[in-house]
This record gives sequence, structure tokens and C-alpha cells, in this order.
Amino acid sequence: MSLPLVLPGGWLSRPQVVEFCGLQTARQRARFCVRSASFSCSAARFQPSQITAVGFVDAIKRWRLARQGLSSGKKRRVYCANPVIQSLEGSLWVKLALYAVFAVMTAIMVLKASPTSFFSDQPIKGPIYGFVIALMALVMFQVTLQTSCRRNSRVVLVLGGLILHLVVVKILMTVVDNQSDLESYRFLIIPYAMAPMLHGVLLGRAAGSFSTVFVSFVGCLFVPRAEFLDYMILSLVTGMTAVLLSNQVRKRGQLLRAGIYSGCVTVALSLILGKPGIASSIGPNAMDHLQLLGSGSGAAFLMAVITALFISGLLPFFEGVFHLTTDISWLELSDLNHKLLRQMQLEAPGTFHHSLVVASLAEAAAEKIGANAPMCRVCSYFHDVGKLKKPVYFIENQHDGAENPHDSLTPTMSALIIIAHVKDGIDLALKHKLNPRIIEVIQEHHGDSLVYFFYRRAQEQKKAELEKVNRQLENPEDLPVVDEKSFRYPGPRPRTRESGIISLADTVESASRSLRKPTPAKIRTMVEDLVRAKINDGQLDDCPLTLQELAIVKESFCSTLRSMLHSRIDYPKDKESKDGRNEDRATIVPRPADATRGGRSVSAA
Ligand SMILES: [Fe+2]
Ligand SMILES: [Fe+2]
Repeated sequence: MSLPLVLPGGWLSRPQVVEFCGLQTARQRARFCVRSASFSCSAARFQPSQITAVGFVDAIKRWRLARQGLSSGKKRRVYCANPVIQSLEGSLWVKLALYAVFAVMTAIMVLKASPTSFFSDQPIKGPIYGFVIALMALVMFQVTLQTSCRRNSRVVLVLGGLILHLVVVKILMTVVDNQSDLESYRFLIIPYAMAPMLHGVLLGRAAGSFSTVFVSFVGCLFVPRAEFLDYMILSLVTGMTAVLLSNQVRKRGQLLRAGIYSGCVTVALSLILGKPGIASSIGPNAMDHLQLLGSGSGAAFLMAVITALFISGLLPFFEGVFHLTTDISWLELSDLNHKLLRQMQLEAPGTFHHSLVVASLAEAAAEKIGANAPMCRVCSYFHDVGKLKKPVYFIENQHDGAENPHDSLTPTMSALIIIAHVKDGIDLALKHKLNPRIIEVIQEHHGDSLVYFFYRRAQEQKKAELEKVNRQLENPEDLPVVDEKSFRYPGPRPRTRESGIISLADTVESASRSLRKPTPAKIRTMVEDLVRAKINDGQLDDCPLTLQELAIVKESFCSTLRSMLHSRIDYPKDKESKDGRNEDRATIVPRPADATRGGRSVSAA
């Protein structure tokens, strides 16, 4: 929200704004308001980040520059998470409150179970048992699903899904208890796969298995005492079938298939457990029993299919609310007809081709180490989308013989333009409402690496100027200042395995284009050198990739590059080996293209 700070007599002065923004607590800000007297006290309840007085001053400056033709007057969109949501996501108190509500609701549901249920005649023992089971489940949840536990939105998804499942089971049991003619369908109309499938698709196999066990153990307390074991077996087997079949689904049809198979398992198990009994269909009322058998089996099958369709239909809603992206959505997002990708194809064909190759490299490597491969593919497509703002400044979009616009710029200005493609990418991604994971990859794919080519050029220019100063041809004040910080990307460094893989694939792809007469040995040396350079520069320090995974990723890059550069590869028997050249060293010619990737330009030969 824009909130210009207004004094009764005019705008708040800049030093006052700076002082106010430096205050940490609401109390300090309130004191400041009282002290400055003329400052509206209502501003004290706002966080410094919301205060845009500085932004207002900048807006006036921009407007002035735009009037002089020195600025476009526009401001880039900036990606930042909502601080309120962030604090709620990690709050321990919120998590404890959610756990307490969950345990109490479970206890209440056990208390309100049907009159024939396990604890129907024990009004105190029943809820206590329910409460204890819920507590033990929470301990298991905390121990086995640590990734989901860290974010409270995931906790809501897991615990809310379990409660919803149990409420549905409870309602159905109550309906059956009140209508005696539905007694034969008691175990056939329960959506056993609901919570397991929902959690399995959204959070993975472990979460789905946890759901299956919990809803089976608590659900059996809602059914008649004599049949609790039948319910538990049906719920466990059907739930686990749904979880196993819906793991890493990439098409909605696969969810429906998982529902159909779950229904088949429910029907088969029901018949084995005698619900409805096959034995009854042989006798005087055989037709009636056969009819019951058919309708019961149909009901069980239909319920499983409806459950799958319900989850499939509501998946986009759950993904949006809980900020999750399933493989189904990643595959939908991988459509190359996206407006930005089509624009890239026309205006920056070199970058488009580069993105496709990075996508192939990253996807193959992610697949090998069990990372999210569809996500890697989609994020790679968009990682350099910011180059669309100034495509000709990037070597892959420059035609042979065409003038290089960097020739007429200082190295500092060139680096500024190159580095800006990250911020421009975030701006475009926010404008086109791209997935937040894509925006994070755009932000992180260069980490805080150095634009080495232009940094080196700036140093060379400084050295030349220094010689002139030594020969007293120039004044020492005219020496250019070369600050390494000005040549570094703003970061942050890659923080996920997928982001790390894309960052490495990006560097490897750029360097591979400069590889002269590639051989398998040269490709391997190049990949080894580039990955080592990234590690030495600390670019993978925040990334959870292990050394073992890095070795697999390197192997995957070599294999993918070998197949991609197959037509260019000189195998050892070729002319090059006859010339006696060293084949074990990579020859990567430093070009501005390499510099734009932020990785160190490697010239190992
Ligand atoms: Fe980039
Ligand atoms: Fe790139």
C-alpha cells in the first residue's frame, strides 16, 4: 500500500523518513511520532517497509528525469513475500494452536460416534483415547513429515484434510445408522481414498501414507464395534492403493485411473470380507441378494471414482490456496505457446534456443537425482526472460558481423545492462503472473556471481589509464574506479536443488557453445571446471545439493551434452589427435556470452 507521510505543513523531510524507517518496534515508532509532534501518530502502526515516503521522493525524481528524457519514468516490479503471511507461516504459536484444535476435534468426533461404536458406552474414555491417538499422530507427523511441518499452511492442509475425511465418514455413518435399509452399504459408500489421495498428490507419498494410517485408526472408532477391523483393513488397503497410484501423476487421467483401481480394490475386499455376503446370494432370496451385491459393488466403485474426480477438479484450488504446484500443473505450464515464450522466440531467438537447451540439461539431471524434473524444465524456459527488454545486448542474439552494442559502452555500463536482466525478468514474470517458483529461479539463477568478462575489461582499462598517469599524460583523479560489487549480480544464491541445477545447466550450456571441436574428454573437463568454479565461488553454499548428487548432475550434463553436440564431436581417432593436440583440456574461448552467464569464464587450455 502506498502511504505518503504527510506533515500538517507539508511532506515529511527525508532525514526524518530515514530515521523513522530505521526504527524496529512499534513503540519506538510511536515515540518518534510524539517527539516529532507534527507527524501523524496513525503512521506508527505501519511497518517501515510500508512507508513509501522515500518512494514518493524517488517518484518525483523519476518524473523530473522523464521530463528531461533521461528516464522512461517506469519502475520495475519487485518480488517480495508478504511479511504478515511469512510470520504466520513460521509461527510456533500458530502451529501449536492448529495442533490443539486438531486434537480436540478428533476427541469430539470420537465422543459423538454412533451408539454401537467402540467407546459408545464410555463417554470419558472415548474422547481421551481419541485425544491421545491425535497427539501420537501429531508426534508422528512432526517426526516423519518435517518438510510439511515447517510451513503452517502445509499443516493446515494435512490436518484439515484429515478432519474433513473423518467428518465425511462420521456423517455417512450417522446416515446409515438412521436408515436401516442402507445398513448393507455401510462400508461401500465411504470415500476411503479422499484424504490419502489429496495428500499424496499435493505433498507426496509420505504424507499420503500418514493420512491413510490416521484415518484408518480413528475412522474405525466411528463404526460398530464388531466391524471395526473390517473397516480398518478396507481403509488401509484402499488408501494405500490410492497413494501408490497417484504418486507423481502427470496427467489428470492418471488420477481417474487411480480412483478406478481403488474402487476395484474396495469391491474385491468387501466381497472377501463378506460385505455384502456372497454366501447369501445362494438360497431362496438369491435374486435380491445378487441385486444387493451388484448395487453395493457399483456404489463402492462409484464413490472411489467420484472421490478421484472431486480431487482432480479441486486441485487447482488447493494449489492456489496452499502455494503448491503439482507435476500436472508444471506440465500445463510447459506449453511453449505462452505469450512470453512466443515473444522470446521472435525477438530473442538465441535466448530462446539457449533456454530450451538449459531445460533439457536441467530436466535430465533433476530426473537422475530425484528432484522435480518438470519444474526444472518450466523454470529453465523462463529463467532468462528478462533479456527480452534488451535482447541485442546478449551475444546469443547478435548476428555474425553485426555491431556489438557493448563496443560503445564502458564496462561498468555493460555490466549494469547484463545484470539488469534478472530484475527485468522478475518484473516481466510478475506482470504475467508466473508461478512464484519460476520467479525464485529467475532471481537465483546467477546467484551473486561476477560478470567476469566486463570486470576483467574494466581492470584492463584501469591498467592502461594507470600507465598514462605514470607517464604523466593524465591526472590521477581521472583514473576510473573499478569496484567488484558493481560487477556482481544482486543474488540471492540458489536455495533449492532445482534452482542449483538450473544455475549449473545455464553456465554449462553457455560455455559449451564456445567449445572448439568438442570431444567427450573436453566436455567432461569443461563441466568439471565450471562446477568446481561455482563451488569455489560459494554459489552453491545455500543449495541443498549433496556432493553425491553433484557428481550425478555432472555425469548427466556430460551425457546430455555428448548427445546434443554429437554432430560436432571429434572422437579421438579424428584429425585433432593426429595433430598431437592435448585432448584432455577444455578450450573455452572467453566471449561476452560467457560473461553474461555470471559463471567464471574458464580458459583451461
Ligand atoms: Fe541469466
Ligand atoms: Fe541463461
